[in-house]
Parts: sequence; C-alpha cells; structure tokens
Amino acid sequence: MLATLKHKRVILAVSGGIAAYKSADLVRRLKDAGADVHVVMTAAAQQFITPLTMQALSGNPVHTELLDSAAEAGMGHIQLARWADLILVAPASADVLARLAQGIANDLLTTLWLATRAKRAVAPAMNQQMWAANVTQENLAKLAEQGVTIFTPAAGSQACGDVGMGRMPEAVDLAQRCADLFAVGTLTGKKVVITAGPTQEALDPVRYITNHSSGKMGFCLAEACVEAGASVTLISGPVHLPTPDRVQRIKVISAMDMLQASQQAVADGCDLFIATAAVADYRPATVAEQKIKKQGDNIVIELVKNPDIVATIAALPNKPFVLGFAAETERVEEYARGKLKNKNLDMIACNDVSRADIGFQSDDNAMTVFWQNGMAKLEKSPKTYIARQLVNLCAKQLQN
Ligand code: C5P
Repeated sequence: MLATLKHKRVILAVSGGIAAYKSADLVRRLKDAGADVHVVMTAAAQQFITPLTMQALSGNPVHTELLDSAAEAGMGHIQLARWADLILVAPASADVLARLAQGIANDLLTTLWLATRAKRAVAPAMNQQMWAANVTQENLAKLAEQGVTIFTPAAGSQACGDVGMGRMPEAVDLAQRCADLFAVGTLTGKKVVITAGPTQEALDPVRYITNHSSGKMGFCLAEACVEAGASVTLISGPVHLPTPDRVQRIKVISAMDMLQASQQAVADGCDLFIATAAVADYRPATVAEQKIKKQGDNIVIELVKNPDIVATIAALPNKPFVLGFAAETERVEEYARGKLKNKNLDMIACNDVSRADIGFQSDDNAMTVFWQNGMAKLEKSPKTYIARQLVNLCAKQLQN
C-alpha cells in the first residue's frame, strides 16, 4: 500500500548531533520499508552513538574511515558510492551541510556524496539559531539547486533548551519520505480540493461559536497530495498553520463561506474532494449587528443547522471521488458505514476520539478507513505519515 524501498540500497550517513540517536530507529524503519542499509558515520557522529549499534541494526559493517585498507578491501568508497540508490544524511549538521554545499571532500561521508550518482537527501538537525543563520540557509539553497532533497526540520523544544526550528523529523516519517522519492506520483495530473480546520459561526461582531480543530490533518493531506503530483486547493477555516508549498489556499470563516468556496473549487475541476474540516453543525439563526448586551441570568440563542458540505459535494451529478472523516467514540464501523452511505461518500476515515493520545490537537493520529468493499487500519503514527497512507488509498481507488 505504501511506497516502498524494496530492493533499494540506501546509505544512511550520520553526522554529529544529538539527533543521531534517532538514526538508530531510522535504520530499522528503512529496513522495514524493504531497503538494504549501509551506515556511514563521521567521527563526531560516533561521539553520540556507537558504530556497533548501527552495525547490529543494519546487519552490515559500518563505514567510518575514508582511508582504511581493511574497509577498502571489503567495499571501497567508490564502490560504495556506486552501490547506493540513495544517500541520506540524517542528521545533517550545519558543518556537514556547509561542506556538502561547497563540494569539500575531506572525509568518507563528503567523498561518497561527491562520488555518487544516487539520489541525495539531507535531514538537517541543529540548534534553531544555527538553522536560521543566513549562511546555513544559503548552503541549503545551494544544495536544493543541485537537486538534493531537503527534509525540512520540525519546530519544537530542542535538546539545548531552545524552542524553534531544527528538530529532525521522526524516523518513520523520514523513511516514508525516502520511499516517496522512488514512487511515481500516484495523483499526477489530478485536482484535489480539501476542506480543513474549524469554522467560526458569528453571534455578533465580537463573539462566535467554534471548536478545537487544529487543521493539521487537512494541511498534512494537502502536502501529501502535492507530493503525489496533484494540484491542490486547500479551503481552510481559521487555523495557525503556514500554507504548505505549492498549495493554493482559500481562507474562510464560516460554514456557509466554506460551502461556497468548495462548490466553486469543485466547479473549477476536481477529481478528489477531501473533507477534513470540523464544520460547525449549527450557526446562530441571526447575527446581531451590535454586540449583544448582558441581560438576565439566562440567555437563549437560537441555532439553525448548517449545510453538510461534503454531502452537498457528493450529491453533485459529476461528483469527484469523495473522502470524508468521522470522529467516533464507539461502534466505529457501524457509524462509519452509515455515514459512508448516507452522505454518498466513496471512502471514510475514522478516528477514535475517545483516545487522549491522538486526534484533534495532536501531531499523531490512528485511523480505520472504510470504503464500499474494504477497509484498512492505519496504526498510530504522525499525521504526515497517516496522510500519505490515505492519499495512497484514495489514489488506488481512483485508479479503479
Ligand atoms: O456528520 P459528521 O460531522 O460526523 O461528518 C463528518 C464529515 O462530514 C467530515 O468529513 C466533515 O468534514 C464533513 N462535514 C461537512 N459539513 C458539515 C458537517 C460535516 O462537510 N456541515
């Protein structure tokens, strides 16, 4: 179902940084995806994690020296450079990025990098100030120009105590992205429209009804669809998320706005409609023109039902393939299959919102997906990874 690394030969090159501990897990994940993995370590990397660990996990000897006669007798550095289908530097320190960008070849890692014809990728990880430094960004731009894939770091708290950009993405995510480098775009040429985030339903000029949706799932799906080759329109309620690269974003506030934007986007051409938005089921019957004043002890607000956006799109005569979402706390399959039918969806992805460790505000999710003749369970993992699996499922059904 996922893009795989079956029969692919990967050199995982580890440079010195605290994120090197994640590289041990990365070896396992690359192998799980089907890759044969050889690990190369710089001298600094060996201060953080031992070659023995990497050897045990990869099942192959670890390469540390450029000029080592024993290693050269086994698989010499030029042979190793030719062997690889992919060289991934993870973590890539600021120092290694600088050397790679300049074409300096003063150790095994940088020499392999120059000597290979394989795909090349880096997963930078460093202190947020070092990441933000102009010279680091210039080096990354140079590498991107040379066709190197940059796996951008995530934001968050850092080992040094700082908070900001510079954390290496999780191993499971990196392994999947490596596999994607070999995948042919499953949605090439397709148009995708995605709704995301909450809606805000105004009561008066200063108050509204909304919910806790972060929009993360929809934004991750937008990214995954772009990666799969689609052109993507993302219709989002108010969220605090940057617009993913190469995504056309339409900002909306209320359910009525979202419906109108969705209808317009679908009319402009749409093969796949994905409804992740947590649309408010009801809106105030009237929006007061002036701020509502404090009254007695009780106040009654009349609410009227909002239109069901996904059902409206799924009822169109030339409807696109429609993926809906459901948050359930019990009888997941029964309720999901009910919604699949009632809303005329092609596929529905359910998360169990009774679980505290996944869902609304979390970076992780776990889902069960249903379509007419099948189902799939997506185990707990980062939303980015879940998004790619969902996109692959949709692409498969679309092809059918
Ligand atoms: O009925 P329920 O709210 O559980 O359905 C959830 C699915 O329907 C989600 O895909 C959500 O984006 C979509 N939805 C919608 N418009 C609504 C309510 C839900 O598109 N008014």
